[in-house]
Amino acid sequence: MDQKFLSSWPNLQFVPESFVHPPEKRPGKLLVAQTCKTIPVLDLQGHDHTQIVQHIMKSTKEFGFFQAINHGVSKKLMDEAMDVFKQFHSMPAKEKASQRSKDPNRSCKFYTSSQNYTAEEVHYWRDALTHPCYPLEECMQFWPEKPSTYRKVVGEYVIQVRRFGEKILEMLCEGLGLSSNYLSGGLSGNPELLVNHYPPCPDPSLTLGLANHKDPSLITILLQEENGLQVFKDGQWIGVEPLPHSFVVNVGYVLQIISNGKLKGAEHRAVTNSSFARTSAAFFIYPSNDSLIEPAKALTNACDPPLYRAMQFKDFRRNFLCRAANAELVLQFISSKQS
Ligand code: OGA
Ligand code: NI
Repeated sequence: MDQKFLSSWPNLQFVPESFVHPPEKRPGKLLVAQTCKTIPVLDLQGHDHTQIVQHIMKSTKEFGFFQAINHGVSKKLMDEAMDVFKQFHSMPAKEKASQRSKDPNRSCKFYTSSQNYTAEEVHYWRDALTHPCYPLEECMQFWPEKPSTYRKVVGEYVIQVRRFGEKILEMLCEGLGLSSNYLSGGLSGNPELLVNHYPPCPDPSLTLGLANHKDPSLITILLQEENGLQVFKDGQWIGVEPLPHSFVVNVGYVLQIISNGKLKGAEHRAVTNSSFARTSAAFFIYPSNDSLIEPAKALTNACDPPLYRAMQFKDFRRNFLCRAANAELVLQFISSKQS
């Protein structure tokens, strides 16, 4: 089948072969019967600051993930943003394709499966819209113009989510024993939004919305309303049950490198379902391309040597793309011991 946007296909009775994963990669057998609320839920207003920092550190060390409630982002705005993301994905294919930006960097992209569609062996059951988010006045001109409220709503949304992300990063710094602004500036200077859309799938046991992966970010802040996200923990896939107006926060490779492995990214994936379309929006906090990423000097010494080598973020990202679905290859690439 030619590449068409998945959400624009007519109702399919079966999964096209190019979307069927080999048995060992299918969610089928490992699919958890029920979602369990196992990733910790943190109330960011309910406790004093020191306690919150302790909770965040404990959850990120144990799971690489937590769900945040009372995070300061307007609930109304979260609803409006989710609505506009859904509206975008339900537009006709032509209309969506025409919203890709015309700038030389193609900074706003829309694609099915992954950016590697033609080269990948098996496709993923999702459509994706992605674009940078900062500085707003520079990047917003390349965002979709349709739906007509997209820029206004999403502009306000990313301002608030970025502010929330900064707070989390400051607390993580505090917990790690770094100065609270260690990750501000260039190290968190290039956030991007990725709006995933997983249409209903005729046979979810054969497909994946997203492969097992760890994010190439410092942290990722995910908005989701329905089940589908799973986290790998102690040899099992556990479902992350969405709490209304919460955000799922997870650690990515960049923070793993900077914290010299004190915090680690956790593997996760998205599974599909046969009854409804699911939309999620991931806000990835990335460093600016020219930022040097390396273990913080304050966290390494003779007994605790750097586990990862220093590199510019753009080199990390370029090399990450082709290794994304294989954690071992990524680890080899970032390791301080190069073979
Ligand atoms: C991602 C991701 C999970 C989801 O976009 O990196 O992990 O539930 N998304 O869509
Ligand atoms: Ni992810």
